[in-house]
Amino acid sequence: MTGTLLESETEATVKARDLLEVDRLAVHIDTYRGTVKAVDGVSFRIGEKESVGIVGESGSGKSMTALSLLRFTPPGARFAEGRILFEGHDLVRLSQEQMRSVRGNRISMVFQDPMTFLNPLMKVGDQIAEGLVKQGVGRRQAREKVIEALRQVRMASPEDVADQYPHQLSGGMRQRALIAMAIIRSPALLVADEPTTALDVTVQAQIINLLREIKEEHGLSLLLITHDLGIVAHVCDRIYVMYAGRIMEEADVFSLFRDGKHPYTRGLIASVAYEDQPGGAVSFIEGSVPSPINPPAGCRFQTRCPHVMPVCREKQPPRTRISDTQAVYCWLYEEEGRDG
Ligand SMILES: Nc1ncnc2c1ncn2[C@@H]1O[C@H](COP(=O)(O)OP(=O)(O)O)[C@@H](O)[C@H]1O
Ligand code: SF4
Ligand SMILES: [Mg+2]
Repeated sequence: MTGTLLESETEATVKARDLLEVDRLAVHIDTYRGTVKAVDGVSFRIGEKESVGIVGESGSGKSMTALSLLRFTPPGARFAEGRILFEGHDLVRLSQEQMRSVRGNRISMVFQDPMTFLNPLMKVGDQIAEGLVKQGVGRRQAREKVIEALRQVRMASPEDVADQYPHQLSGGMRQRALIAMAIIRSPALLVADEPTTALDVTVQAQIINLLREIKEEHGLSLLLITHDLGIVAHVCDRIYVMYAGRIMEEADVFSLFRDGKHPYTRGLIASVAYEDQPGGAVSFIEGSVPSPINPPAGCRFQTRCPHVMPVCREKQPPRTRISDTQAVYCWLYEEEGRDG
């Protein structure tokens, strides 16, 4: 890691090939009902300046994966397994103090509902400046940077917005303010978890385009998390399809849409294709995500899969490589991968 963030080499120092490499990550939450296996053996990577999507239905473990990257996990949650390699360190093993220098500085995050993140009693500009001021940047210089950041997120009157309170802004403007806060300290990775889900359709498109432009202009990597396959297709280079705490398939956007392999991926794509039809979205995948407390042995998709075989109920499908940019976790392709 460069700069002053984590100067001392710690035991968590590791080498990674990519900016971020998440390796068999498992985040379990102990509750009075039992252990929730929210994230259960998830591996993915994000290259420098790459834009990667994680897509899956609600309850798949997407948010828990995102929060894990900043170690913002809820009470009771623990890292049961795996590593999060980022800029030469395993984030799972960093101290809270070291994590403070990662958050906002090297990795920052934008959430679905900006109001849960913004302080209603504090002017927007002061909130955006907070991280800088804590780092010792003078108030005047911080203010200048805030105005610049608000301009970069295409805010029409940045000076006025800086002096307003969150309730005076529209939903789309609040999300822009949050993006300004996320980029002001030039992070290497921006994580956006359902950043447009709470917004009107036209505003959604503006925010998605903004994220794409910001990523290019600032040369950062983007992790976009959403249930909406259409959104990731618009923004991302590569996609990971997540289901019930596990990755089901990974591919570049083109391969995924043209030749998605996993029955779950195919179901998601079929649902998107019919969204524009009269009657609205049709789910082609019957049933629902299994309980994360007692997930079935073997493939997690077995209860909804039209191709389920005896082996699917016994053993977890291995990762089968389809091409340089595509891999699937499904028994249907295991032979294909071994031969190829
Ligand atoms: N604080 C918590 N305590 C117990 N279970 C939780 C908690 N937060 C999330 N979960 C469970 O973890 C699973 C994954 O949740 P989440 O990461 O929010 O999914 P997604 O973002 O894909 O909708 C869900 O089954 C959810 O109910
Ligand atoms: S492993 Fe079996 S149950 Fe799972 S998606 Fe493939 S065919 Fe279906
Ligand atoms: Mg979520």
